[in-house]
Amino acid sequence: MQYQSLKGFNDILPGDSEIWLWLEGEIRVVMRLYGFAEVRLPIVESTDLFRRGIGEGTDVVGKEMYSFEDKGVPPESLTLRPELTASAARAFVEHGVGQVSTLTRWYYIGPAFRYEQPQAGRYRQFYTFGIELIGSGFPESDVEAIAIGADLLKRIGLERYRLRLNSIGTSEERAEYRTALLEFLETRRDQLSEDSVRRMGANPLRVLDSKKREDIAATADAPSILDFLGDESREHFATVRALLDANGIEYTIDTRLVRGLDYYSRTAFEFQGLDLGAQDALIGGGRYDGLIEQVGGKPTPAIGFGMGLERIILALKTAGRLPQIAPETDVYVIGLDDASRRWATSIVHQIRAAGLSAEHDLLRRSMKAQMREANRRGAKLVVIAGENELAAQEAQVKNMQGGGQETVAFGGLVDDLVEMSKVRG
Ligand code: HAM
Repeated sequence: MQYQSLKGFNDILPGDSEIWLWLEGEIRVVMRLYGFAEVRLPIVESTDLFRRGIGEGTDVVGKEMYSFEDKGVPPESLTLRPELTASAARAFVEHGVGQVSTLTRWYYIGPAFRYEQPQAGRYRQFYTFGIELIGSGFPESDVEAIAIGADLLKRIGLERYRLRLNSIGTSEERAEYRTALLEFLETRRDQLSEDSVRRMGANPLRVLDSKKREDIAATADAPSILDFLGDESREHFATVRALLDANGIEYTIDTRLVRGLDYYSRTAFEFQGLDLGAQDALIGGGRYDGLIEQVGGKPTPAIGFGMGLERIILALKTAGRLPQIAPETDVYVIGLDDASRRWATSIVHQIRAAGLSAEHDLLRRSMKAQMREANRRGAKLVVIAGENELAAQEAQVKNMQGGGQETVAFGGLVDDLVEMSKVRG
């Protein structure tokens, strides 16, 4: 019996995993620069948390959750997290984080699960990096969140994107807009796609998000959410824009950007990749001033974003910007006969104890094959020993980068290797 991974669930094998490590490393560097600390959250939460937090009317909750009952009596409905903001809000409240610090800067990297139709850039298990900046309702924090996204994309060499920006107001402002939009959509009902007509009932704002040509045409002159903002929301949005301008962060105002999760308020944004297919949202986020209260905490303003790691890697690949990461081994030890192979097994331990990476042949291959392997593994130094070397208690050390070969006594071998790799490393 041979098994295959589930549809939409991917293996990430060595050869690719180095790219992931690199990307996660860059993320962690940026997070350190911005003073964010990592939070590790459970993969599974109570289904109710997501229903309340994300919203019953959303696709994520309505169609895409992996929910199941556990073995408790009575059984409890649990869900594989479809995103991490609701979990972060739950943890923030549960641990009273807001009581000890006025501003919380959290980030996370981990898998999320959504039962979607898999296609390029869309999977059922995907990895997300996200930030949650909790405690400030001021526009400076919106700009801080957006700047993190822009900085990170720049740092990893992804320049082909567009930053879409919108304000979706407070829930009261949105309710008024919703009524006006619904009235407008009713007049266009016969021009809209079937999907959009279905969406009108539960979540009319999502009709604006449709990528179908007929929907875009039919809603070209739809009322704009920006005309429904009150003074405070209007001023908030103006300050966000002014600060982005002052920081040289380019953006496009896009009143169609409504985001697919119910907890958002005011600022919404997306970094849209320009070389991707339909799944082009690299980063999506926004302000969520009501969520913490919604999950049982005190009213606490917050903003954050999520970034899909698969999509970032796909975009880098498409743009030809994936870094070339070749294997790098400090030392490869070649033994030419049984005795020197045995010697190799102990010297590699000593080399590793000194802090250098070391490998030796585990397949009893010929000298030539071992040399080839040393090359393949990117060895910087190759130590060669055979019968003569063992008798003389010395080894040949070959420098694979600068060329040249030296004879080194066993007694000083490890120290010499450390020195040589410093000079040449
Ligand atoms: P989201 O827009 O649903 O937002 O997802 C964030 C990002 O995750 C997307 O921009 C995309 O790159 C990636 N993504 C989403 N679904 C998939 C999928 N099926 N396959 C591959 N990648 C995917 C959130 O999840 C919010 N929690 C973001 C946030 C944090 N807002 C405030 N704080």
